[in-house]
Amino acid sequence: MSENVLVLGNTQVKSILSGREDEVIEIIKRAYILHHEGQSSLPHSVFLRFPGNDTDRIIGLPAYLGGEYGVAGMKWVSSFPGNIQKGVERASAAVFLNDMETGRVRAILEGSLISAQRTAASAALAGKCLHGDAGETKAGLVGCGVINGQILHFLRTEFPKLEKVYLYDLSDERMDQFIASNPYEGLTYEKCGDIESLFAAAKLVSFATTAGTPYIKHLNALTADHTILGISLRDLDPDIIAGSHNIVDDLDHVCREKTSIHLTYQKLGNTDFVAGNIADAVKGTVPPRAAGKPSVYSPFGLGVLDVALAQYVAENAKDEGVGTVIENFQP
Ligand SMILES: NC(=O)c1ccc[n+]([C@@H]2O[C@H](COP(=O)([O-])OP(=O)(O)OC[C@H]3O[C@@H](n4cnc5c(N)ncnc54)[C@H](O)[C@@H]3O)[C@@H](O)[C@H]2O)c1
Repeated sequence: MSENVLVLGNTQVKSILSGREDEVIEIIKRAYILHHEGQSSLPHSVFLRFPGNDTDRIIGLPAYLGGEYGVAGMKWVSSFPGNIQKGVERASAAVFLNDMETGRVRAILEGSLISAQRTAASAALAGKCLHGDAGETKAGLVGCGVINGQILHFLRTEFPKLEKVYLYDLSDERMDQFIASNPYEGLTYEKCGDIESLFAAAKLVSFATTAGTPYIKHLNALTADHTILGISLRDLDPDIIAGSHNIVDDLDHVCREKTSIHLTYQKLGNTDFVAGNIADAVKGTVPPRAAGKPSVYSPFGLGVLDVALAQYVAENAKDEGVGTVIENFQP
């Protein structure tokens, strides 16, 4: 039994994850499959909010994932949007991993990159599965923050021919910052004046905004060829969701907390508009598209992904001698 705890900071996590996009996507895909085979325990995330404050929150995502992972732990992730004005990232996180024999904490990892990369790997996995055309050369990003930065990074793994990326953000400055901080050889950016023109230019579109309530009531440029990665979950009006082919990560989780899926359920009174989950879409038991409809992916973000990826990082860090071991952490 170990009294020691491995602690990994941001640069150490970054060094382990660097260049391992294919493996990360595979870990996420396998985690979804195991979860939907029932080999997990995944309580609803708990949202900590503060009196008189509608914007800040801290979310706890406890999770156990079985199969070859055999990992339990929790991501504790905060969102303080005012950080952006202070020059600090909106989100920050820690992931705790527990020993499955004793229950004791065995590792603590800085979690913002793990969280962003598991989200991006999920988006890229769904993008490949739902969009189909691996030769796609164009993508659109609505919301130019940390998450769409990682999503673009992972989309380039699944769509290696991407050469043009259309951007839209409420803030022109954020678009400029995005372009400056995400340089890729052979890839050019174009800023769009509105979301309609972004949809007219690109068929594969990722939303990662901080919108709290749906602000897109209809989209004239939306066609049956579009694939929407609805990562921020609260951009599209229920009428758009109802007219789309919807794939989710887990219906029980995503149909909550005023997501567009939740609002559509409240409007229609049923969830028949959801075709299925990403594990079944990847396995081919749920069709990735339906005739005459755009495909929309709505992932709530499952704690099983965080603990699976954190375990991968912790094990590789141990093998490579990376990180700080706190001795006698336990009583
Ligand atoms: N589903 C998941 O698994 C998952 C995981 C992590 C983060 N997220 C979500 O992804 C979103 C983005 O996270 P981030 O860390 O990149 O945030 P961020 O604050 O770094 O960037 C968000 C950007 O969206 C822009 N924006 C806000 N409202 C907009 C609108 N109506 N139209 C266009 N642009 C708009 C902001 O100006 C900002 O530049 C958040 O909502 C977060 O909760 C989802």
